[in-house]
Amino acid sequence: MSENHAAPSTVGQLSAHGDESAPEFYHPPEELVNNSNIMAYAREKGFADVEALRQWSVENYQEFWADMATRMVDWYQPFTTVLDESAAPFYQWFNDGSINIVHNALDRQVKTWRKNKVALIWESEQGDNKTFTYWQLYKRVNKFANVLKAMGVKNGDRVTIYLPRIPEIMIAMLACAKIGAMHSVVYGGFSVEALQTRIQDAQSRVLITADGGFLNGKIVELKKITDEAIKHSPVVETVIVVKRTGHDVPMEQGRDIWYHELMALPIASPKCETEPVGAEHPLYMLYTSGTTGTPKGLVHTHGGYQVGVATTMHFTFDIKEDDVWWCAADPGWVTGHSYIVYGPLILGATQVMYEGAPTFPYPNRWWNIVERYGVTVFYTAPTAIRGLMRFGEAWPSRHDLSSLRLLGSVGEPINPEAWRWYHRVVGKNNCPIMDTWWQTETGAFMITPNPTTPLKPGSGTRPFLGIDAAVVNEQGEPAGDDEDGLLVIKKPWPAMLRTVYNNPDRYIEQYWTKIPNLYTAGDSARQDDDGYFWVIGRIDDVIKVSGYRLGTAEVESALVSHHDVAEAAAIGLPHEVKGNAIHTFVILKNGVEASEDLADELIAHVGKMMGPIAKPEAINFVTSLPKTRSGKIMRRVLKSRALGLPEGDLSTLEA
Ligand code: WTA
Repeated sequence: MSENHAAPSTVGQLSAHGDESAPEFYHPPEELVNNSNIMAYAREKGFADVEALRQWSVENYQEFWADMATRMVDWYQPFTTVLDESAAPFYQWFNDGSINIVHNALDRQVKTWRKNKVALIWESEQGDNKTFTYWQLYKRVNKFANVLKAMGVKNGDRVTIYLPRIPEIMIAMLACAKIGAMHSVVYGGFSVEALQTRIQDAQSRVLITADGGFLNGKIVELKKITDEAIKHSPVVETVIVVKRTGHDVPMEQGRDIWYHELMALPIASPKCETEPVGAEHPLYMLYTSGTTGTPKGLVHTHGGYQVGVATTMHFTFDIKEDDVWWCAADPGWVTGHSYIVYGPLILGATQVMYEGAPTFPYPNRWWNIVERYGVTVFYTAPTAIRGLMRFGEAWPSRHDLSSLRLLGSVGEPINPEAWRWYHRVVGKNNCPIMDTWWQTETGAFMITPNPTTPLKPGSGTRPFLGIDAAVVNEQGEPAGDDEDGLLVIKKPWPAMLRTVYNNPDRYIEQYWTKIPNLYTAGDSARQDDDGYFWVIGRIDDVIKVSGYRLGTAEVESALVSHHDVAEAAAIGLPHEVKGNAIHTFVILKNGVEASEDLADELIAHVGKMMGPIAKPEAINFVTSLPKTRSGKIMRRVLKSRALGLPEGDLSTLEA
């Protein structure tokens, strides 16, 4: 079971098992293994191999995380308590320490030679680009933090950020954190209803948006969507608008102010002290779809979160001083929060951010970026790989991708076919793929290979250092080899969510009651006889569409908000590129005729309310929906029917 670091470099080749049915291992290049950050740490700690280090770190997780909290980040006031379990499951990490994530992301960097290092290379599909050194980013963040203060934003306030993938989204998030305010970022691909419910729940008085963003050569009308959302969210007093597209947008006197005008005022001084906060001070909330009802604002804190993010990025993606990191996610999702905005800066890395579609204007756009900036570590989602695979190998093959040394995948299980293509065509059989399983809730990677791990396509391999993951049955007992079960985490970890904003009961109910005292992730998984984890998928009403996390309840409520719809149910069905696609079942109001035009109208309506990513693939008009006796829609039955599978236990089905 142990990882054999002496294994010969058989990169991209199958292990010589001589047996067709033997598991397929891809061994990492020896040089990568020997020079890896994780190997250096294992050696320092006196372990023969990384697997021995990992086992020690799980058993001694508090000691391990305390070591990381000391090495990876700086504290104003060091912590003396590692983990406080007195109010479990409301765990607290390093809670008597004083820190601020921006101190580690920016302030400490500009005191070293990294001051003049490039922090961010930004490029848009429109062809424009900008580069920021750590110093330049630091100054911008200071200025904007002062602007926020002048707008009355205080420690503990929530600021909603609804921006495209432009440097200002980073600046805005960091500026909030710097002054101890919480950011609540709403993904720029969401629309009116999604934005409105999130503003309402967070009670943000200040909102930051842009006149628009670019995607596939078209303008996304962020300001217009904001105006519409604010009509129903009167709590917003100030809207700061970044000029991105330059097209005309209405500005409301007394409420809307241009970002560039504010940044030119004397209030926007480039000097701003970072506010020391307690380790458990909330850093942000990020809304995510759960089993029922409205999205939950998951809360992350300043201390533990940054320790988790920096540690995982250091060991999994092996970030070194001369790397060029590119996470192709959107900062509006947790992947972007952890591995665009915070992780790379804390490690002092150089990174690329790209605004736009991977295929604009041609399907070589990403490979062209890798080549031009010499990207060394690249992180994306299986859906993007599958989408680009369709255009064939010729597109990546036209580019010199030899700068790459590690690849990553996140968001959903990666099918082995996509894995092999990514490995062979993009990584030239030379770049191990870090298939990272984690969640908005977990803040940082939980199950993931590291550069020394022999890989199996489609498996996230083993838990990260200090993470105690397991697969259990409904009773909480360990599942057998290759037996499907629930994916759980048995010990707390620093980057874990702390609560659901304004709803601590929901935190307990959602994550800690299914199996008492274990964190249940909401995923099913199995572990093979090598101890490798294989995540199967969600077991709740969350649908992963192109890696984006959507709740059936949100899609259903968007449908029901249409005047012709009486009732609706949404399920996810497999889709070749998107992983899952949303299929819906709609009962129309009395007297309304079903038609193709109406189906199209409903799809467009969901797009308008929720955002293009939530658009259903299909609308099925039905006259009834399978329900439990207590009136809950049985989506499981709809799904089985659609897939032609047995319908399972129907004992609770309404007569
Ligand atoms: C799924 C994204 C398999 C899983 C970081 C999880 C994955 C949900 C993987 C969280 C992976 C994420 N392999 N499944 N490597 N990564 N998932 O909150 O179902 O948007 O529970 O966080 O994505 O989605 P979220």
